[in-house]
Amino acid sequence: MSNKVTLQYADKSYEFPVLTGTENESAIEIAKLRAQTGLITFDEGFRNTGSTVSNITFLDGEKGILRYRGYDIDDLANKASFVEVAYLLIYGELPTAAQLKAYEEELTMHTLVHENLKKVFDVFPSGSHPMGQLMTMMSCLSSFYPNSLNPNSNPDETNLTISRLLAKMPTICAMIQKKGKGHPVLYPQNKYDYVTNFLYMTFGNVSEEFVADPVVVDAMNKLLILHADHEQNCSTSTVRIVGSSHANLYASIAAGVAALWGPRHGGANQEVLEMLEGIRDNDNGDVKKVLQEVKDKKRLLMGFGHRVYRNFDPRAKILKASCDSILSKLGKTDPLLNIAMELEAAALNDPYFVERKLYPNVDFYSGIIYKALGFPTQMFTVLFALGRLPGWIAQWKEMREHKEDIGRPRQVYNGPAQRSFPSIADRK
Ligand code: SDX
Repeated sequence: MSNKVTLQYADKSYEFPVLTGTENESAIEIAKLRAQTGLITFDEGFRNTGSTVSNITFLDGEKGILRYRGYDIDDLANKASFVEVAYLLIYGELPTAAQLKAYEEELTMHTLVHENLKKVFDVFPSGSHPMGQLMTMMSCLSSFYPNSLNPNSNPDETNLTISRLLAKMPTICAMIQKKGKGHPVLYPQNKYDYVTNFLYMTFGNVSEEFVADPVVVDAMNKLLILHADHEQNCSTSTVRIVGSSHANLYASIAAGVAALWGPRHGGANQEVLEMLEGIRDNDNGDVKKVLQEVKDKKRLLMGFGHRVYRNFDPRAKILKASCDSILSKLGKTDPLLNIAMELEAAALNDPYFVERKLYPNVDFYSGIIYKALGFPTQMFTVLFALGRLPGWIAQWKEMREHKEDIGRPRQVYNGPAQRSFPSIADRK
């Protein structure tokens, strides 16, 4: 494989190095392009543009491969705990038993939030979207830990900030759901593990003993692992670019939450469920009609398509298989699952979708499981953020450790040429 490319431009030729990663992905390194040629590149949506060299997550969109630090997502989803995976993403290796125990104890010590944070909920009008509340809460955390505002502080301070964020996120997410229902907030209990504590704070109540259903705990653990990282997606790139200005971690994560909210990104899981409910309630389950509207460009098929996967999203495969088992273990059926499977089968046999390599992505089945576990639809993207948090943190930490430049893209200007300033009387 060549380690350089030659560019011909205006009767001159220029050579640029080619970088090749451990999975044989190659990139033209164009740091000197503008200085040597006067040219910049233009790549709307960064479809062909690498923003960093990262050691964290590898995707192969053609083969449908996803690995965190070299471990296949199937192994992690079925054999690891979410805290193990968070440790792996952030610190680069799976923890030993002793390291895992110490880390779980560390996180347990930071699950409480400042009592004043609860007062912030009082300003939200009822029915305000949980993602707007989560964004607010993430930036609020920076107000309570002024020492964490300097991201160039010593590693111990950074690790403390990381532990605080990971530990407080479930507490905050549970508060959002409890406050949304007008129920009393439950405080974290040190006797529970990370996922069980989240489920206790979310579904427990002050009037009775909480009994954790192992099926629900296992499903939640798997859902969080499947969402934990995904290389340079929209929200992760946002976290990195905000962090590249040396903004603190809380501010960078708040920005990531904002980006994830979009219906083309993490917000899709809520849109998928609403789409399936619409097919059930308004389209009389007529999947063919819906697919025709998609082909007529009247709507998107939410939960389908992906910028990188041109094959099945491996996470969707795992979630589809889990849907059946979780629903049956919970003794639940959901007509929306049947509609989803009918929609998938029809789309995967329709040339319009096949030609465009549109397959179900992580959001297509996740909402059905979240609903079966008892979460309201508007909480789905909050749950995506809860899972994605360790990935955002790992990517932010890597960007800081690599001492990466501030992210500042160029542009091609296409506006008016220079013109004189007209007085207001002369303006038409
Ligand atoms: C996530 O990047 C990540 O890794 C994200 C994520 C993560 O873990 O961080 O995986 C999480 O965001 C998953 C995606 C969730 N979003 C949705 O499900 C919303 C619906 N999907 C689309 O908005 C779309 O597929 C995107 C935004 C996800 C990808 O958009 P692209 O890259 O622009 O899609 P494309 O270039 O592959 O599109 C090719 C064609 C186009 O049609 P033509 O112009 O060729 O006729 O396919 C069409 C698109 O219009 N198309 C769809 C479609 N997605 C693409 N048509 C109908 N329904 C869709 N969902």
